[in-house]
Amino acid sequence: MDYIIKTEQLTKKYKSFVAVNNVSLNIQKGSIYGFLGPNGAGKSTTMKMLLGLTAPTEGSFTIDGKQFPNDRLSILKEVGSFIESPSFYANLTGKENLDIIRRILGLPESCVADALELVGLSEFGGRLAKKYSLGMKQRLGLAGALLGRPPILILDEPTNGLDPSGIHEIRNLIKSLPSLYDCTVLISSHMLSEIELMADDIGILNHGCLLFEGSLDELRQNAMQAGYASQNGFASQNGFVSQSGFDADQKISTANLEEMFLSMIDQDNADRKQRAML
Ligand SMILES: Nc1ncnc2c1ncn2[C@@H]1O[C@H](COP(=O)(O)OP(=O)(O)OP(=O)(O)O)[C@@H](O)[C@H]1O
Ligand SMILES: [Mg+2]
Repeated sequence: MDYIIKTEQLTKKYKSFVAVNNVSLNIQKGSIYGFLGPNGAGKSTTMKMLLGLTAPTEGSFTIDGKQFPNDRLSILKEVGSFIESPSFYANLTGKENLDIIRRILGLPESCVADALELVGLSEFGGRLAKKYSLGMKQRLGLAGALLGRPPILILDEPTNGLDPSGIHEIRNLIKSLPSLYDCTVLISSHMLSEIELMADDIGILNHGCLLFEGSLDELRQNAMQAGYASQNGFASQNGFVSQSGFDADQKISTANLEEMFLSMIDQDNADRKQRAML
């Protein structure tokens, strides 16, 4: 299998607190990988390690065959990123903000208009960043990540703060990227319902530990086996996800899958509590 991002036992400790615990991720080239977990699970910390923004305490990773930390600069040239809420120069326009990043990356001038177009901000490129709405700021952050169309994108909750139509639009954009220019996307979220609409593969993180890694289909199969399937006719308001090979009367709805995800987290939390009491 061709993994473009591979982490081995990646660990981050803050003093005695383990924020990321022996996480081994396998992200396939050209895929959208959904990185799921509740608040504080360690998603941003993992992404920051991949971007060299914080050093791993233990473990290692490779991105496109390049090893961190030796190949840190060449890794960064291949990765576009959006981490938490990106900040901008408030008194510069959206276009000018992007132009600063473009210059740092040594990219041609045309990249700025291309990125603004990709995120639907062409019309507002000349407006000051401080006058952007929250959703427009998110889009500008995404445009910054897309500058020069990098082969790998690391996006930390990029739809935060967007209205439903904005979420829909950005989700469609992200979904289109692998076929548009052959990139790989690692995207985090705490909502399975959101990730389900975009991702090929999923990693579920809780308290820094990876509870599940596999395809969305594998997760659906697990949900079936764990008894989360609805009989046909139930839960239809959430839309059934039809899967070949599944019993015609048993489908996994988005609500069922989200329910399984939440109970996986609850179970892990309960196990932790019990272990802590022993
Ligand atoms: N610099 C730091 N010093 C100490 N603890 C930290 C630091 N950065 C993060 N943490 C802790 O590490 C854990 C993981 O945080 P992280 O931001 O990676 O979670 P997350 O999965 O991105 O959560 P969210 O969904 O809320 O964004 C949290 O308990 C957080 O408080
Ligand atoms: Mg986070």
